[in-house]
Amino acid sequence: MAQAVRKLTAHVLKNNNVDTIIGNTALRANSTWWGNVEMGPPDVILGITEAYKKDTSPKKVNLGVGAYRDDNGNPFVLPSVRKAEEILHKKALNHEYAPIGGEASYTDAVAKLAFGENSPVLKNKSNVTVQTLSGTGALRLGLEFITKHYAKNKEIWMPTPTWGNHPQICNTLNLSHKKYRYYDPKTHGFDLKGAIEDISKIPEGSIILLHACAHNPTGVDPKPSDWEQLSHVIKERKLYPFFDMAYQGFATGDVDGDAFAVRHFVKEGHQVTLAQSFAKNMGLYGERAGALTFLCGDEGSAAKVMSQVKIMIRVMYSNPPLYGARLVQEILNTPELKKLWLADVKSMADRIISMRTKLRAGIEGAGNKLPWQHITDQIGMFCYTGLKPDQVERLTKDFHIYLTKDGRISVAGISSKNVDYVAEAMHKVTS
Ligand SMILES: Cc1ncc(COP(=O)(O)O)c(C=O)c1O
Repeated sequence: MAQAVRKLTAHVLKNNNVDTIIGNTALRANSTWWGNVEMGPPDVILGITEAYKKDTSPKKVNLGVGAYRDDNGNPFVLPSVRKAEEILHKKALNHEYAPIGGEASYTDAVAKLAFGENSPVLKNKSNVTVQTLSGTGALRLGLEFITKHYAKNKEIWMPTPTWGNHPQICNTLNLSHKKYRYYDPKTHGFDLKGAIEDISKIPEGSIILLHACAHNPTGVDPKPSDWEQLSHVIKERKLYPFFDMAYQGFATGDVDGDAFAVRHFVKEGHQVTLAQSFAKNMGLYGERAGALTFLCGDEGSAAKVMSQVKIMIRVMYSNPPLYGARLVQEILNTPELKKLWLADVKSMADRIISMRTKLRAGIEGAGNKLPWQHITDQIGMFCYTGLKPDQVERLTKDFHIYLTKDGRISVAGISSKNVDYVAEAMHKVTS
C-alpha cells in the first residue's frame, strides 16, 4: 500500500496532473468527509467559563458570563416564571406545531410590551411581529430579510464597540457593516458628539443598529435627551433604525422606561425594526423566546412583508418552539402574573445596581486614586471597567477572577459575598 502511494505521488509530481491531485484528495477524504475543515476559534465567553470551571480555587469568581445570578451566585428562576410553569402544567396542553410566525397570543403581547399598550402602530396593523429563536434568532432573521428584500443601501452601521455577534451575523450574510462612535474611553460614557458627527455622514438609506437599553458590552446608554438628538439626525439622514432590545427592564428595573428609545423613535415617525429577547428579563435563556417586528407603514405592506418573513422562517426552522413562548404569553396576558414579573425584573435590576454601588465604594474605600464613578453611572448587566488587558490578566492569574479581555464585567456575577474581594483585587491591579 505504502509503495502504491509513493508511486502515485511520484507520478503526480512528475506529470503535475491536476485531475490526479483532485482524485488523490478525494481518496484521502475517504477516511473523513471533513478533512478540509479548519479548526475555528473558540467562543470567547464560553472559553472564559471553561477556564473558570477548571480553576479549583475557592475564591474564584466568574464575571464573564452574561446571565443573571442570585446573591448566592446561582442561576435564578423568576417566581413569576415558576407560577406560569405551574399554570401551564395544569393546562396539560398538546404539542402540536406552532404557526410559522408563532402564536398570536404571544406576538401581540410582546409587541405591546415593546411599543406600549396603546401604540397606534399596533392599532393600525402596520406591524409584522413574529416569534424568533430568542434575540439572536431575531437579529439573524431580521438581517437576512434585509439582505434579501431591502431595496436601499444595504450597509449597516454599528456602535463602537458592539455585541460580538452583531458583526458575525452580518459576516455570515455578507452584509457590509461599518462603525459609528459610541463609547468614549476617556469619560467611560456615551460619546454624543462623536456619534452625531459620524451618523451625520452615513449615506442615506443605510441601516443603523441601536441598542435600545443596557448596551452590551459597555453598560453605557444615551440619556433621553441624547436619544432625541439621535432620532433627529437619523431622520435627517434618512437612515433605517434597527433596534436590538435584549434587556428591556434590566437597565432601570422599569420595562416602560427602558423602552423609551424605541417608543420615542416610533413617535417621531421612524419605521423601526426591533429584535426582542426574553432571555434576560424573564430568565428564559435556554427557552429561546424572542421576537422580530417590522413596522411597515401600512397594513398592505405589512401583509406582504409577513408573507415573505414566513417563507424565510419556513425554510430555516419551519416554526418556533412553544414552551418559552407559552410562559411569556401567560405572564404578559395574566394581570396578576405580570405584576409579579414586573417586581421580579425590578428585584434583579436593583440587586445589580446595589452591587455597582458596593463595588465602587470598595475600590474607592481602599484608597484607589483612579475615578470609578462610571461603575455606578453605567447601567444594566455589564460594566466596562476600563481595566487594561494586563490588569485583566492579573485579576485572573493572581485573584482567580474571570472576565473578558476588554475589561467588561458582568455585575450580575458579583454578590454580597464576593464584592469586597473583587473590589480589593481591582484596587490592587490598578494601583
Ligand atoms: C446586545 C445583545 N443582543 C442580543 C442578545 C441575544 O441573546 P439571546 O439570543 O440569548 O436572546 C444578547 C445576549 O447576550 C445581547 O447582549
